[in-house]
Amino acid sequence: MIDDQLQQARQYLAAARRVVVFTGAGISAESGVPTFRGKDATWKGMPAAVASSIGLLEQDLTTAWEWFDYRRTLLKTVVPNAAHLAVAQAETRFEDFLVVTQNVDGLHQKAGSQRIIELHGNIWRGRGLRTGKRYPLPETPLPTLPPRGDQDEPLRPDVVLFGEMLPAGAFEEAEIAASRCDVCLVIGTSGVVYPAALIPFAARDAGAAVIEVNPESTDLTPHMTLSLRGLAGDIVPRLFGQASTSPGLPFTMHTGQG
Ligand code: APR
Repeated sequence: MIDDQLQQARQYLAAARRVVVFTGAGISAESGVPTFRGKDATWKGMPAAVASSIGLLEQDLTTAWEWFDYRRTLLKTVVPNAAHLAVAQAETRFEDFLVVTQNVDGLHQKAGSQRIIELHGNIWRGRGLRTGKRYPLPETPLPTLPPRGDQDEPLRPDVVLFGEMLPAGAFEEAEIAASRCDVCLVIGTSGVVYPAALIPFAARDAGAAVIEVNPESTDLTPHMTLSLRGLAGDIVPRLFGQASTSPGLPFTMHTGQG
């Protein structure tokens, strides 16, 4: 079954000129990054969604930073997995190829992807509370919380928190790309956070093949052209015709000629 679906998905990709890869926490799960709605997604008794909320940041900037610096420390040693690498390697094979990610971990960049829209920001940056100026913050743990920018301006994490709008332009750009693509891969997302979750719908409504890679069924599943049940690190390299990490599942490269 999965073999048939993989073959079909590969045929769609072989015929595609424009590809959008829409990713969520699940693509980083095999790198050891916890997902948001998994059983371990709490910190100091708070659900991750509360620790990552604008409410907490406005109430207590230092505690909000403690949570983010804790996450940054977890991410410090994390490296891209086979799925991130396969996506990065596929980029030059298509006329147009864009990664639209909900992740803030920076692993698509580390894997070598060039064209990325980060809908929810990046955990390795801070942003001035007064000026909005962005600062790279690669050091972790941070020496002082909250970190400060020019003229001692306190910084906040440059990520979209629960209860906040997306950065101007990012979603619109992603939506336009989705509405022009031939194939949209939807990898490792529960598809419950909006407006990000509208991206696969923009692709589908414009006639693209929309292909999900996820070990579980999601809210998006009923709307997909194909749903490939499995781990991103296993499925994605095989989707792009790269070396399989699982022996015993032979694939023939399709050329788009049927
Ligand atoms: N490969 C593929 N998918 C996986 C894997 C894996 N190895 N492991 C888990 N998944 C799937 C889960 O089945 C789930 O559907 O990844 C999905 C992760 O879902 P969430 O934790 O809800 O993450 P995401 O969809 O990225 O959340 C969206 O919500 O919390 C906010 O802003 C945060 O960007 C995040 C957004």
